[in-house]
Amino acid sequence: AISPASDGVGRRRRRVLMFPIPFQGHVTPMLQLADVLRSRAGLAVTVFHAPVNAPAAAEQSAAEEDYRFVTVGAGVAGEAAALMPTGGSGSDFAGALMRLDALLRAPFDDALRQALLADDEEEAAATCLVVDSNLRGVQEVAERRGVRTLALRTGGACCLVAYMAFPELCGKGVLPPLSRDQLQLDMPLDELPPLRLRDMMFSATTTHGTMATCLERLLDSARCSSGVILNTFDDLENSDLRKIANGLSVPVYAIGPLHKISIGQESSLLTQDQSCLEWLDKQEAESVLYVSFGSLASMDSQELLETAWGLVDSEIPFLWVIRPNSVQGSEQTCLPDGFEEATRGRGMVVSWAPQQDVLKHRAVGGFWTHNGWNSTLESICDGVPMICRPQFADQMINARYVQEVWKIGFELEGKLERRMIERAVRRLLCSEEGKEMRHRAKDLKNKATTCIEKGGSSNTAIDMLVNLIMSF
Ligand code: UDX
Repeated sequence: AISPASDGVGRRRRRVLMFPIPFQGHVTPMLQLADVLRSRAGLAVTVFHAPVNAPAAAEQSAAEEDYRFVTVGAGVAGEAAALMPTGGSGSDFAGALMRLDALLRAPFDDALRQALLADDEEEAAATCLVVDSNLRGVQEVAERRGVRTLALRTGGACCLVAYMAFPELCGKGVLPPLSRDQLQLDMPLDELPPLRLRDMMFSATTTHGTMATCLERLLDSARCSSGVILNTFDDLENSDLRKIANGLSVPVYAIGPLHKISIGQESSLLTQDQSCLEWLDKQEAESVLYVSFGSLASMDSQELLETAWGLVDSEIPFLWVIRPNSVQGSEQTCLPDGFEEATRGRGMVVSWAPQQDVLKHRAVGGFWTHNGWNSTLESICDGVPMICRPQFADQMINARYVQEVWKIGFELEGKLERRMIERAVRRLLCSEEGKEMRHRAKDLKNKATTCIEKGGSSNTAIDMLVNLIMSF
């Protein structure tokens, strides 16, 4: 029999340690990467995770020898929970991340020490820690214990390039902006086309100082690692990937789209309502607008109202995800009176959807999204054009690339109002321009498919990453 610690011919098995941050958009790609490393290279995996938003897989996989989940900081669970941003552009996401990182340091040191001790006995040998690049403190703990690290960036290359330029923009006095007036914020950044100054304004409540420290630590995490892993692909972000490799002087591995490569490991933190797939089965090809703003973004009750009537008035079939607690100031989501009758079966509302299955469904013709990187990439990989409504962090950068670089969607700017929504939905689903966007999105979908095949750029990058890990 093959013992967990050997590969059957007496060689000791290898184990990769991983540490995601406890947010949907970060847990998902980390678990997908775990799955890829396990299925491709037979690596055993230990996922360390915060005591909040623990992946559901932590329970399901407890029995599997080569898959382990370790809760870090059970003793500070209350403090960790209090740090979690309550959502939307109102949250100081960057500040919360840094405080969480600091809180998890000491408990992680304990957990890592124990894992390395077990390692000396019967476990597969730990080779390295793949750490979310927002956890610089956790990474330092590993460095002190002599464990090599790889940094996982869960955002796009476009975002990392922008973050790399942040210190220079501060040095030149471009950031922080002298005023928040519209003209100033709309100023194009010559150093980072097609971004504007406001695309670098991460959230209304994150101060410039917090952002500067957060990004300095993020870039340190990349520079101090043995390699940076990105969930993207060469044909999509070739020039930005080159800028990153040149600028950071560490190897860069573009190994995405991970959701099209990984096969196992459920990563959703909320229960997905599968019934919407049956509803989609009954709709015409490319006729439905899918509306979802990810796991953190939120809207106020007036925006909810305008969205509801904008969707109804567009007369386009829609599938709308309204996450619990995503409408500010009300625990229960109240759709306006008469909304349901007005949709006449043309619309469906769910609290959480199986998004990847939705986007690949033949009935879906467009996606109104907040442009979190996972949503953006998932839409691209299924050839679905987008209406972009970014709220905070990297979302503005992603939206800008969707509109200006890939030309597979457009941003919905300004105060949400039903007429503008109606027009935007019809523009995406019914116009010649929308058709062209869909055409370009399908072209990118084909490229995404090719890059994961044998000889494709992401497939090759995964091989190189595995070789690197095996060489440790
Ligand atoms: C967060 C930040 O918002 C984002 O800017 C950053 O890039 C990553 O972290 P989130 O807001 O959750 O992410 O958005 P996103 O990155 O798009 O991830 C959402 C994930 O949840 C996607 O993988 C999507 O498939 C999934 N999802 C979303 C569902 O499974 N069901 C849903 O109904 C909605």
